[in-house]
Amino acid sequence: MAPDRRIVPLLTKLLLAVELILQGAGADEISLHRNHNISVRIKPGIMFLKTCPLRAGGKSYFIEQKILPGQSFNFAFDCPTPEKYWVLVIEKNIDCMSGPCPFGDVQLHPSGLPRLNKTFVWEVTADPLVGLELKFSTWLSQIMPGETCADRVLYNIGSRLHAHRVTIGNFCRNGSVSRVKVQGGLSLTLQLPWDSKANSSGFKLESRSSIQRLCIIEATFQNESSATLMSANYPSGLPEDELMTWQFIVPGNLRADVIIRNYTRPKCERKFDNLVYCLPHLCTSHGFRGLPLGVLQPSNIAGSFNLSVQGCDQDDRNPGALSLLFDVAVRYPKNEGNITLIIDLRKDWNLNITIYSKPTKPDSHLIHEHGCLICVDSNKNCKPSVTLESKYSYNVTFLCMNLENIRIIAEHSIACWNFRSCTKFSSLVVPTSLTRLPILVERYTWKIQAPEDVNIEIRSPNLKLKQHIPDQHQICTGSYNYAINATTPGKIVILGLFCPGGAIEKIQMKGNLTITLKTYGRRWFNDSHKQDLQMFLIPIMPEECIFSLTPEPKTKVYLQTPNWLEGMPPYMSVYWNISVPAKQVARLAFLSERMGVTCEKGRAYINIKEHNPNADETVCRDDQILPKTLEMRHHFWINITNCKPSAKKLLSMQLMVTLTQEKKDLAIIIGVVVGGIAVLTAIALVIFYIKKKNRKQEKPTPMVGVYNSNVNTQLPGRQGLFQKNRKANESHIYAVIDEDMVYGHLLDSSTIPETAEVGVYRPFSGAISTTPPSPPPFRKASKVPDTEESSFVLVTDNDNYTIGHHAPGELQSNGDMNVSCKGKVSSKSLHENGEQENSVELPLNQIHDFSGSETKS
Ligand SMILES: *[C@@H]1O[C@H](CO)[C@@H](O)[C@H](O)[C@H]1NC(C)=O
Ligand SMILES: *[C@@H]1O[C@H](CO)[C@@H](O)[C@H](O)[C@H]1NC(C)=O
Ligand SMILES: *[C@@H]1O[C@H](CO)[C@@H](O)[C@H](O)[C@H]1NC(C)=O
Ligand SMILES: *[C@@H]1O[C@H](CO)[C@@H](O)[C@H](O)[C@H]1NC(C)=O
Ligand SMILES: *[C@@H]1O[C@H](CO)[C@@H](O)[C@H](O)[C@H]1NC(C)=O
Ligand SMILES: *[C@@H]1O[C@H](CO)[C@@H](O)[C@H](O)[C@H]1NC(C)=O
Ligand SMILES: *[C@@H]1O[C@H](CO)[C@@H](O)[C@H](O)[C@H]1NC(C)=O
Ligand SMILES: *[C@@H]1O[C@H](CO)[C@@H](O)[C@H](O)[C@H]1NC(C)=O
Ligand SMILES: *[C@@H]1O[C@H](CO)[C@@H](O)[C@H](O)[C@H]1NC(C)=O
Ligand SMILES: *[C@@H]1O[C@H](CO)[C@@H](O)[C@H](O)[C@H]1NC(C)=O
Ligand SMILES: *[C@@H]1O[C@H](CO)[C@@H](O)[C@H](O)[C@H]1NC(C)=O
Repeated sequence: MAPDRRIVPLLTKLLLAVELILQGAGADEISLHRNHNISVRIKPGIMFLKTCPLRAGGKSYFIEQKILPGQSFNFAFDCPTPEKYWVLVIEKNIDCMSGPCPFGDVQLHPSGLPRLNKTFVWEVTADPLVGLELKFSTWLSQIMPGETCADRVLYNIGSRLHAHRVTIGNFCRNGSVSRVKVQGGLSLTLQLPWDSKANSSGFKLESRSSIQRLCIIEATFQNESSATLMSANYPSGLPEDELMTWQFIVPGNLRADVIIRNYTRPKCERKFDNLVYCLPHLCTSHGFRGLPLGVLQPSNIAGSFNLSVQGCDQDDRNPGALSLLFDVAVRYPKNEGNITLIIDLRKDWNLNITIYSKPTKPDSHLIHEHGCLICVDSNKNCKPSVTLESKYSYNVTFLCMNLENIRIIAEHSIACWNFRSCTKFSSLVVPTSLTRLPILVERYTWKIQAPEDVNIEIRSPNLKLKQHIPDQHQICTGSYNYAINATTPGKIVILGLFCPGGAIEKIQMKGNLTITLKTYGRRWFNDSHKQDLQMFLIPIMPEECIFSLTPEPKTKVYLQTPNWLEGMPPYMSVYWNISVPAKQVARLAFLSERMGVTCEKGRAYINIKEHNPNADETVCRDDQILPKTLEMRHHFWINITNCKPSAKKLLSMQLMVTLTQEKKDLAIIIGVVVGGIAVLTAIALVIFYIKKKNRKQEKPTPMVGVYNSNVNTQLPGRQGLFQKNRKANESHIYAVIDEDMVYGHLLDSSTIPETAEVGVYRPFSGAISTTPPSPPPFRKASKVPDTEESSFVLVTDNDNYTIGHHAPGELQSNGDMNVSCKGKVSSKSLHENGEQENSVELPLNQIHDFSGSETKS
């Protein structure tokens, strides 16, 4: 087809006219403010043909024109479509080093630029420790390098790393990347096509504290959607030894899968390259080395999570590259159950409950098995764990098939700040608002806070508590138990584990108490109504920790000192008040030969005494061998006081108490005694009179029987070796015979060799000197030299105190302590001893010598 020769010149003329009109309309001025630090370059495009000159100041240009701050430039293009030939580059430096950073919305300045393809470049220089955050109003999606965006608007984000530019990525508008954080300087370019109507940069600049890594990319998902993301500099490698993190914000009702599409691994010289997932409630780091891709991709993640890649020190000769390309796909869950419960905590006070879903596969670190998601009052905010406060009612939806793996952990606080105004009683029972739910209560903790002038009493009147002592096979096997500890400033006393079905009726403690009920399995659902724990606030007592118990006949009750594993705290005392019903005999046994503590300061004691004010007291010191067994016919105390132990050997003791019927042969003996009553009445009266007198003298330091292992001697009190079994109103004939039995028993059942073979009575108690010359029957079996006999008689109360005075300037209690073996120690004075920091130890042989010399003098 031949062109029409007349039409072509006509068309050319017409086009020229149009071009001239456009030229007139297209005259532009670019004027840059001196202070704005913006420069503009008018550049020939890539496809530049010399067809569209730039006219300025009467000249035509085909090369780049640069306008600097403070300059003004008037120009026009000599063609109707300059956008085909020319582009604009607008560069702005933002200096955050020498002055304040202009934070906030970043403007597209200057305005009114010609309609050409524009590239805005922002270079932000900042301190290497300063984090910078770009927050996008229209969220972005990442594209591969070289790809273009549908609307031809492209962001390129880079970071400065040791004067190098690192490309964090190319992004289009319309996606899920909501924020990008970089460290220490940033460079961002925004490409806008010539016909774009955009009048804002679409992002804000903010300053943040150091992020301690190359960058953090935050992607927020609101609906079913997916995002493709890649490591910095992709497809080249992440800079050596750098860390890069993605944060994914996913609502709880959606599930996310991570799909790794491509990766390369560097050759590490030092350290490992790592891929770290922080899934809800779980962070797992996995060396990239040999990673099984199929396993590594977590799926069905509920809620927000993180993913990081960590580079290594690469081998210079063959560095390889660490690169990662992955998708995150977010969708609604499929095949999930949906169970809704009303949890009504309106009647509960000061209670917080955490409901959580146990991961069904605790060992699987990578595939997050969230079990169930729990949604409160809406299906939007679903999490694997929620915390509810009391006083409200909640509609809780569990997104799973059943509630088998759902657990409740509750914390109940009972605080009293003023004893007068506090409620004195609380029932420590898991409330029905929780027990009636088909969800297992895993732990229920009462945090009881009390002022310093209050003791807390825990009672279990019906079930009575048993202490869990596995090494004595006294084991809590029920569906729940209680862990009890008391905290006073600077000290935690762990009383141990207790469960129903024992002998302990009451525990009285000083300090703030934590009681945790822990359940064991679904049996709890049947047992939960049987709870029986009560708390009372009682006025302060001198004793720090008292256990009151009534053992059941014929059962063995094992007891253990608090802080069993760590040892009793220094100077702490623990008291057991053991009730012995009428016609029963309690047999007390120590399960160790000695107290087992090595004292650094002070001494540790065990004091055992019946409630009867006239009863004898058994005192054992830390360095003495303990009696194997003691028999008690009345309610009695076992008091253990710690010293300041040396770090190696701490005080941890176990005891056993059994109740048996009172022996029949006692009656026979009484019968025999009654037969000889005429003979003995006179003697008894004498003993009675003298003892009464002595007791008066001795107060307030009751008599003690001490078994002294160090010197292979046994130091009885006046009547008994370890105890006295006598009711105040009973005759002393009875008592004497009774003691005979006790001694006999000791000789029979006590296997302590010293007792039988070398057992020497060291009658340190001055009281004994005035007793009738009827030595305890036990002495008949011992090979006691006559000199000892004489010392037995001569040492008096006053002598005891004389010995004590060997440590001058000390309290009397100190003196008592030094001679505790002689039976002058009251529990009160032991208390004081506990606080004595500078007690002077007098070696036992010294006491011997001393008493010996007394004897001679
Ligand atoms: C402009 O940029 C230069 C070089 O980056 C810098 O030294 C100067 O402080 C900047 N001025 C302003 C006003 O930002
Ligand atoms: C302007 O940008 C478009 C794509 O956004 C491109 O096709 C065109 O070549 C560019 N113009 C110039 C002069 O580079
Ligand atoms: C964003 O992208 C989605 C598809 O990826 C598209 O349906 C939607 O229209 C886009 N929105 C805008 C504002 O471009
Ligand atoms: C940008 O343009 C929109 C309309 O497209 C207008 O509503 C808005 O006010 C403009 N913003 C600025 C800063 O000029
Ligand atoms: C994966 O990486 C390899 C090597 O870098 C490259 O050849 C390949 O094209 C990449 N595949 C995708 C889907 O990016
Ligand atoms: C809880 O559910 C009940 C009915 O099942 C409904 O009446 C109540 O409004 C719901 N409460 C909330 C806070 O969603
Ligand atoms: C649970 O089920 C109810 C009705 O069956 C439905 O409206 C609700 O969206 C479900 N919740 C979720 C989180 O699937
Ligand atoms: C319950 O949680 C709230 C808020 O977390 C806290 O202030 C309160 O002390 C907690 N109460 C108990 C009893 O733990
Ligand atoms: C109470 O003791 C248990 C161990 O029996 C311990 O795990 C817990 O942390 C203690 N609680 C407090 C508040 O000290
Ligand atoms: C209990 O704790 C509170 C505060 O935590 C403290 O003020 C109070 O003295 C503690 N009570 C005792 C007996 O230690
Ligand atoms: C044991 O302690 C209790 C309570 O303080 C006290 O009444 C009793 O006399 C003490 N017993 C002995 C043997 O120290």
